[in-house]
Order: sequence, then C-alpha cells, then structure tokens
Amino acid sequence: MAKRRAVITAVGHYVPEKVLTNADLEKMVDTNDEWIQTRTGIRERRILEQGATSDLCVRATQKLLERRKIDATEIELIIVATVTPDMFFPATACIVQEKIGATNAWGYDLSAACSGFLYALVAGAQFIESGAYSKVLVIGADKMSSIVDYTDRNTCILFGDAGAAVLLEPSDNPHEGLLDHRLYCDGSGGAYLHMKGGGSLNPPTHETVDKRMHYIYQDGKSVFKVAVIGMAEVSAEIMKRNNLTADDVAWLVPHQANLRIIDATAERMGIDRSKVMINIDTYGNTTAATIPLCLSEWWERGELKPGQNIVLASFGAGYTWGAALVKWTLDNPKS
Ligand code: COA
Repeated sequence: MAKRRAVITAVGHYVPEKVLTNADLEKMVDTNDEWIQTRTGIRERRILEQGATSDLCVRATQKLLERRKIDATEIELIIVATVTPDMFFPATACIVQEKIGATNAWGYDLSAACSGFLYALVAGAQFIESGAYSKVLVIGADKMSSIVDYTDRNTCILFGDAGAAVLLEPSDNPHEGLLDHRLYCDGSGGAYLHMKGGGSLNPPTHETVDKRMHYIYQDGKSVFKVAVIGMAEVSAEIMKRNNLTADDVAWLVPHQANLRIIDATAERMGIDRSKVMINIDTYGNTTAATIPLCLSEWWERGELKPGQNIVLASFGAGYTWGAALVKWTLDNPKS
C-alpha cells in the first residue's frame, strides 16, 4: 500500500507591529548598526508589547484558518514549538486550543529551540502518516523579548518575536509533502546556549533574578562554529539521500540565526542566494517561528509553487539541528 503523506495545506504568520531597529539598540547598549549588519545581517526585529506567545500563535492560526476556509473545530491536534511558553504549565497548545475554539483538538508543546518547528513538523507528520489524524496544526512561535537581556549586547541584537503556523493534512500521493527528514541533537552543546534560571535546576529566587539567570546565555563564537557545520552538513545530507542536485532544489528555507550561517549552508549545497529565503534583516532570529514565517511570507508573495522541492534546515540550542525535504503542494495564491 502506498504511504500516506503529510502535506502542508495552509500557512499563516503574525509579526507584532512594534519595530526595534539597530538605531534603537545603539541607544540601549554599546553597539552600532554597522557591526550588527556585518556580523548578523539583521537591521530590525519585531517586539510583542502586549500579550504572550499564545497570542502570536492565535493570530498566525486565525490567518491560516481564513485561508484554508475551515473552522477551528476541524483541527484535531495542535503542536506548539516554543521555548517561551506563556507559562510552564498548562502547555501553550492548551491555551491556544481554548483561545481559537478548537474544541475537538488535543495538543502539546515541544521544546527544541531554533529547531522546534522542524521537530514539530516531523512529529505532526507522523500522526498524519499513521492515519491517526487528518488535520494537524503545527505552530512555531516565540516571544524572545521575554527572555532577552536588553543590557547584554552579545544577545539582545539577535532576537525578535513572531509566530507562524502550517496545517498538515494527508495525501495519498507518496511523492508529495514531507518526503524525508534528518533530525539530530547533541546535549553537550547545552553549555554554550541556554537559560539557567526558572527551571527545576535553579528555581526562581531573588538570587537567580539578581544574577540575571532568567535570560538567554550564549557563547556566540562557539555556537557559530558548530552551527555553520551542522546546518550545512545536514542540508547536504538530505540532498544526497534524495539524489538531488542544486538545480532540483527550488528553495532553501534556513533557520534565520545569522546571515553568514545561511550563506555557508547555501554554498555547501551549491545553491544560489536567489533560491534562499532570507528575512533575517527584518525580523532577526525569531527562534521556532523563522521557518514557517518564511514559508508563509513566500507563499503569500506567490513564490512557492506546487511541485517545487524545498529544503528546510535549522540549528539551535541543545544542540538540536536537522533538515527536511518537502515537495510543495499548496497552490500559489496569485495563480
Ligand atoms: N556590538 C558591538 N560589538 C559587539 C557586540 C555588539 N552587539 N556583541 C559582541 N561584540 C564584540 C565582542 O565583545 C567582541 O569584542 P572583543 O573582541 O573585544 O571581545 C567582538 O565584538 C567579537 O565578538 P564575537 O562574539 O567574536 O563576534 P562574532 O563575529 O562571533 O559574532 C554572533 C557574534 C553572536 C553574531 C555570532 O557569534 C553568531 O551568530 N553566533 C551563532 C548564533 C546562532 O546561530 N545561534 C544558534 C541559534 S539561536
């Protein structure tokens, strides 16, 4: 029997209105626009002033449901990838379920930092492929501004807030949808990128707050070196496994952490910059949201077309990293 595949049948995203530019950051820490742009490719990012990660999820999902022309009650499962849940519990997926009125859905959160969306996409696809469910909502969303230390120039320039979602549904065509994936983790990377405070290891106390342990810690240089290799290698691996040449790949959809990491990945794959989705300049690193945010924006602009091979790739805290091959199926809204 042919394998049932998970295909993306709708996309949606939301970015908050407030813009935090490099010029704004120059007034907050000892940095400058030239340094930020040269080292990262970022010009500005968005900040959610009111509300929480679930609100980013809800706004993205509402757009998705409008486009797919279905009611929230049709959704059967909600997976939210995030490292900035509204609260430790209940899961943000439950909060989203209630807010959008998805009364027939169950759901859970998944924590894999910048690889969160990729992990969640693969997890969601398993529920479709097994035949268990037919409408799985996969969301990547992070309110990074809630864990960024705006006195730390090493990290505060990097991150922004956003939410984006895809809907997975089944297809009987084994040659479309999520065709392949490779996911990895290496816990030894935890030392270089983490948030020390707030969990069971260092529950919140006055001391943990005074020591600024509830903010992101990153040893940027160490992470950079591994990220360049990890994302480039796994992207090349997914091409090799599927006998794809650079000409066969219509789009690389990379996690947006640093333009130099993105360029290194494209170079390793032999792919021209014109086939790489890049919006890090306007949003910075929105952690779990970067990949679906690209998909939704590029689809909206009519640049994603059925039949295209697209490679999604990520690297993040954990370390976690991976790549996925998707044969795109969703019609171009402009056709
Ligand atoms: N403005 C100006 N100078 C800054 C600065 C800023 N915002 N942040 C750091 N610097 C300084 C450093 O203090 C250092 O100064 P020193 O040499 O006097 O000590 C110098 O700039 C170089 O810092 P370094 O950390 O070596 O820069 P870099 O080229 O590695 O770039 C990152 C820093 C964070 C942009 C880069 O390392 C990176 O992108 N890392 C990986 C991020 C990532 O992929 N994360 C995983 C997914 S979230």
